[in-house]
Amino acid sequence: MSPGPAPQTIIVVGGGLAGLSASYAALRAGGAVRLLERAERPGGNSIKASSGINGAPTRFQRDQDTAFYSDTVRSAGARLAAEADASTTHFRRPEREALVATLTGASGKAIDFLVDEIGVDLSVVAQLGGHSFPRTHRGAGKLPPGAAIVTALLEKLKQDPKFELSTASEVKRLLTQISDAGSRKVTGVEFTSAGQTATLQGAVIFTTGGFAGDTWGLLQKHRPDLAGLPSTNDPRPGTHGLLEAVGAQLIDMDSVQIHPTGFVQPSDPDARVKFLAAEMLRGGGGILLHRGRRFVNEMETREHVSHVIMKLPPSSTAATAAEKEGSESLTQWDIQLLLDPGACEAAASHIGFYLWKGLLAKKKVKELDEATRESIREYSQVVAGTKPDALGRKVFGSWRLQGTEEDEELEVCIGRVTPITHFTMGGAAISSKGHVLAKSDEGASLKPIEGLWAAGEITGGLHGDNRLGGSSLLECVVFGRAAGAEAASYALGR
Ligand code: FAD
Ligand code: SIN
Repeated sequence: MSPGPAPQTIIVVGGGLAGLSASYAALRAGGAVRLLERAERPGGNSIKASSGINGAPTRFQRDQDTAFYSDTVRSAGARLAAEADASTTHFRRPEREALVATLTGASGKAIDFLVDEIGVDLSVVAQLGGHSFPRTHRGAGKLPPGAAIVTALLEKLKQDPKFELSTASEVKRLLTQISDAGSRKVTGVEFTSAGQTATLQGAVIFTTGGFAGDTWGLLQKHRPDLAGLPSTNDPRPGTHGLLEAVGAQLIDMDSVQIHPTGFVQPSDPDARVKFLAAEMLRGGGGILLHRGRRFVNEMETREHVSHVIMKLPPSSTAATAAEKEGSESLTQWDIQLLLDPGACEAAASHIGFYLWKGLLAKKKVKELDEATRESIREYSQVVAGTKPDALGRKVFGSWRLQGTEEDEELEVCIGRVTPITHFTMGGAAISSKGHVLAKSDEGASLKPIEGLWAAGEITGGLHGDNRLGGSSLLECVVFGRAAGAEAASYALGR
């Protein structure tokens, strides 16, 4: 069958930040967009994002920041450094470096776009683990960054008559044709809505997110060792199989991010889905304690901090409770997150919610156990510069306790945290412009699948072994916009 004329609609599958960014760019390029979203409301995991979006250099940063690329490469670790990749011989270091260069190189413009064109406040900048500069942007108000960006972008999209959003619409299959040359091209989707099955023709952008919430499906398949951990992600099935069915190359599927700090809610300690203790709490000055003692540089990468926690003995309560109920066991640790008054103030926009939910409690220093008080005294001396940190922490956020008698009457915020599955680094291999790449013969380079793009957490290869906090919202904007523009050009026959 010959390919025929390109259809003019751009079908975006998934209404998180990657899908919204792609939709916006496709509309700006002159296309008409139909966004299909499985849930009742758009937003996905993007709307939950709490620390912010990376960008460097930007007008909101104080420092001259030229290290975003090198920090990202370092964080990606062995997966990027290896010349040949274990999961595919085709997606190698140059391809991975090109993705990192695109992400970091376009990051300043992505912040400008959100601030100047979409009208989002991103004026507050924090430093998260694994970053050598503060570069994670959020607003000064109470609305968390994910919700602020998603809401503003949706508002803009809804003003465009060429944008149509269908919620409660789940894509089940990609439609394809085989060209005379024998290659496969994607021509549309099959989806269900209100119990009916329908098809839609058009260029397709896949932005369906990751599988950290697919505990008994893709997570168990690729990382069975992690199925006992709680998650920040709501339970939902991964969609990677739909891409694989049309020949997409999936890479790094076993690369799953464990975030070190999910809140253990005292009123529901065994909940499988937990609120995230945002990394900016540590960036703002928070410390981690096990039995009252610090045990890790809190500003290291998530991979490192989680690894150190998970080498400690887990708490046994959850497993016991699960056994009693006959349910699946849950593995958790008993780690305390503690913020002094300075760190609490720096995170004021978030703290009110955490206190209200009972995830954090306020206590006077004198009410804490002796081991914790001693750790506070020692750490305060480190922050004051009177002695080096044995654990290597060099940035202390807004911590201001002095380690003196006067501290005893001051209030800290304290809560229990545990490692949780948070993000999946693996997914569909893409080009720097978001084109989905097809499996190919041994030794050959990966070629784009005609008519199909992807962006956001569904894609793989960019973050390697560890994603830096704040880089997921960024990848949604950078690669979402690239995919939207490219798909529109294709759909409009340019
Ligand atoms: P999502 O936002 O998850 O959207 C995917 C959408 O696709 C969903 O709405 C889903 O319903 C839909 N969908 C799935 N399958 C189908 C189908 N078959 N048909 C139709 N629709 C479908 N990252 C940062 O950079 N900074 C942060 O501060 C930050 N904080 C976070 C806090 C939390 C609690 C969590 C969970 C994540 C956080 N992240 C953060 C990560 C980041 O939010 C996500 O990785 C990112 O937003 C994913 O965006 P996405 O558009 O790829 O997917
Ligand atoms: C967090 O706030 O700790 C999450 C940030 C992220 O996942 O990028």
